[in-house]
Amino acid sequence: MQIIRTAREIISFVEESRKQGKVIGFVPTMGALHEGHLDLVRQSMTETHLTICSIFVNPTQFNESTDFDKYPRTLDADVEELTQVSCDVVFCPSVDEVYPTPDKTIYNLGDVSNVLEGEMRPGHFNGMASVVKRLFELTLPHRAYFGLKDFQQCLVVKELVRNYNLPVEIITCPTVREPSGLAMSSRNKLLSEQGKETALQIFRTLQTLNEQWKDVEIEDLQKVGSFMLSLENGIDLEYIEVRDSKTLAPYDEKSHNAPVVLIAARVEGVRLIDNMILQK
Ligand code: PAF
Repeated sequence: MQIIRTAREIISFVEESRKQGKVIGFVPTMGALHEGHLDLVRQSMTETHLTICSIFVNPTQFNESTDFDKYPRTLDADVEELTQVSCDVVFCPSVDEVYPTPDKTIYNLGDVSNVLEGEMRPGHFNGMASVVKRLFELTLPHRAYFGLKDFQQCLVVKELVRNYNLPVEIITCPTVREPSGLAMSSRNKLLSEQGKETALQIFRTLQTLNEQWKDVEIEDLQKVGSFMLSLENGIDLEYIEVRDSKTLAPYDEKSHNAPVVLIAARVEGVRLIDNMILQK
């Protein structure tokens, strides 16, 4: 596996690969890789000629500096994991390589960016869009892979691509879960074993709502979810919402789109998110 650290090198590498007619797949990450990321890399490898995985903890998308400082950084282990799955290239640039000058753009990311995470983490999606756009410019991918664990991020990235005519196809892939059901997340590395056990209640809640939703009014579904989460000591709930899975507007039974339940909660001070599309 090739390790590339500079903007100049990655640009000349992808330009050359494109000249050779290679289809480029791109998996952007902030490292602390887990099976969810590796799944994206594997999918890219089956669908493209060349897979680039980036590892870059993007400072502009953290709205709390302590969250940025605490974010797990495991570069050597990550490179090892990517080598094991035969990823072609890892791109791990410094902040100066990604942002030679600060990006002060306020991106047009549509209504999907203003609710939920957009409300709880002001500036987060703008910073995420800024880095994703920049990474697309550096790696020139035909296809880019994102995990649905970050459900709202997937919608916001699609909006970014649409609004700025970016020549890349966005592929979204299912959430990968631990055998217990806990959604895989780099942040799980910050949880104790007890914390992981506590966090499981988030998945149990999603499952229960999925089983009950046809028999319960939508407002009551949210109440059942909040109640279930309150039963577990150690979960500090930020939100549980049932939304339209295409627009993230409050779910309306007349909508043709499926409802999605989205949860954000803190366990041991670690902010976790998860979601589930409710099955018809
Ligand atoms: O999902 C993430 O890990 C990040 O938001 C991303 C897409 C790599 C941008 O920094």
